[in-house]
Amino acid sequence: MYKKLISQIDKEQMPEHIAIIMDGNGRWAEKNSKNRIKGHKEGVKAVRRIVETAVEIDLNYLTVYAFSTENWRRSKHEVNYLLKLIMNSLIDEIDELTKNNVNIRFIGSQQEIEKRYNKKVIETCKRSWNNNGLHLNVAMNYGGRRELIESFQKIANNIQTGEIDIDEISEKMVSDSLYTAGMPDPDLVIRTSGEERLSNFLIWQTAYSEFWFTKTLWPDFSRKEFIKSILDFQKRKRRFGAR
Ligand code: FPP
Repeated sequence: MYKKLISQIDKEQMPEHIAIIMDGNGRWAEKNSKNRIKGHKEGVKAVRRIVETAVEIDLNYLTVYAFSTENWRRSKHEVNYLLKLIMNSLIDEIDELTKNNVNIRFIGSQQEIEKRYNKKVIETCKRSWNNNGLHLNVAMNYGGRRELIESFQKIANNIQTGEIDIDEISEKMVSDSLYTAGMPDPDLVIRTSGEERLSNFLIWQTAYSEFWFTKTLWPDFSRKEFIKSILDFQKRKRRFGAR
């Protein structure tokens, strides 16, 4: 039972921010002789499970990679379906999430996608910004390189207007101009499905993150495995470049 595992978590060593690359919906579908769409539907159930568990263990920040700037390369049918599924799932869940004190935000580029956001979702998200429980970031049309370009554009603009000098550019300034401004960097990054790469996810923010990979396909990712990744994280020694 995962509850028993939860009791093994050292509350003093909790990761503050966990980021997840949810991978393997398509392969799950293939394995179960279903179409890819069904795989994504099952993926949503896994998101629900993991968000519930994150609330249960008092996690501060959870970021899920829902749609990347590269995902536009998929078939039009799959792209449209995925975007609708993500919006509709949020419409279904958002009242429950806000009742549970979850603070919800989208991180990602506004380009290409602005019109795809549902107004009710955006308004409810904004109202949730006073909540101080779990901060749930949904990475939508997110690409780490795009995020850095947009950050550099903001900084360059501030130089052009004379607000700052070039030699004032600092790590903090870059961090503060990312979509994740004001949030702690991820302590732990989880990727499912056996792939072991970052795929343009939070490339600045993960400079010192710990990584945890599993062969489990995202729709099968369980509460138990989520807790196990945290227990494993708690065994690691993080040195941040020091000896
Ligand atoms: C990876 O599987 C998954 C995605 C590209 C999308 C993830 C989206 C969801 C789980 C939908 C719900 C999200 C929220 C926040 C409600 P894949 O299609 O790349 O799988 P494959 O590599 O096996 O083909």
